[in-house]
Amino acid sequence: KTSPRMREVMTSLIQHLHDFAREIELTVDEWAEGVALMNWAGQMSNDRRNEGQLVTDVVGLESLVDEITYKKASEATDYATQSAILGPFFRHDHPTREKGSTITFNTPEDAQVVYMYGVVTDAKTKKPLAGATIDVWQASTNGLYEQQDEKQVDHNLRGKFVTDENGEYAWYCIRPTPYPIPFDGPAGKLLQVLDRHPYRPAHIHLIVMLDGYKPITTQIFDKDSKYLDDDSVFAVKDSLVVEFTERKGDSEAKYELKYDISLAPN
Ligand code: DHB
Ligand code: FE
Repeated sequence: KTSPRMREVMTSLIQHLHDFAREIELTVDEWAEGVALMNWAGQMSNDRRNEGQLVTDVVGLESLVDEITYKKASEATDYATQSAILGPFFRHDHPTREKGSTITFNTPEDAQVVYMYGVVTDAKTKKPLAGATIDVWQASTNGLYEQQDEKQVDHNLRGKFVTDENGEYAWYCIRPTPYPIPFDGPAGKLLQVLDRHPYRPAHIHLIVMLDGYKPITTQIFDKDSKYLDDDSVFAVKDSLVVEFTERKGDSEAKYELKYDISLAPN
């Protein structure tokens, strides 16, 4: 059953589509190309590839929706960690892992291991929050997420962690590297048409949740990465840019990243 809100959304979308077609004087061939693009995206999509989302992302729609959502939420909570888009590579079945363990299993030779740690706090009281869950996922150095890459073990570079009684979390991951979003499909074709590159700056995805608090979907970006000013899916925000520093006295990790997260109460 359709909701009144959905009727309002679709009515507005149709109005704007008509205005757009009138203004640009859309031809039959151009309309047909649009139809073909939609069909192509549908045909390409499966459990491992969310091409429809990719198409909306390269035109900046997911990041715009994130911005609208964050703006609304932050009328009360402008002190919480900022959000960023989910992207197409999240999985709902991340295995829960021990604090201080690793998410990198078949680490490539060229990967640099990072010890990432921090505290999750209440944005208002600044108190540490025990029992918060953090989902983390990242691409390998070849630019592929585990589900895109036969050579990576299942759930490589992913995990779910729970903060301890001091609100602390920790894991070993890899220093992220810039990489192109999949461009052999309609999203890539769109980028070509617009004369744009497919690269994203180096990033790590996070979802942080705790009962009684607003959940945060976000990404953090390496301050030394290329493409920070030119992300193909427009996700970068200044407050989400982080600095990896050298780690001493740990044979497991060359770098470390201290990253504290602040949640807004409901
Ligand atoms: C997109 C987002 C990502 O985080 C990513 O790794 C690839 C693509 C996207 O928004 O399309
Ligand atoms: Fe990503």
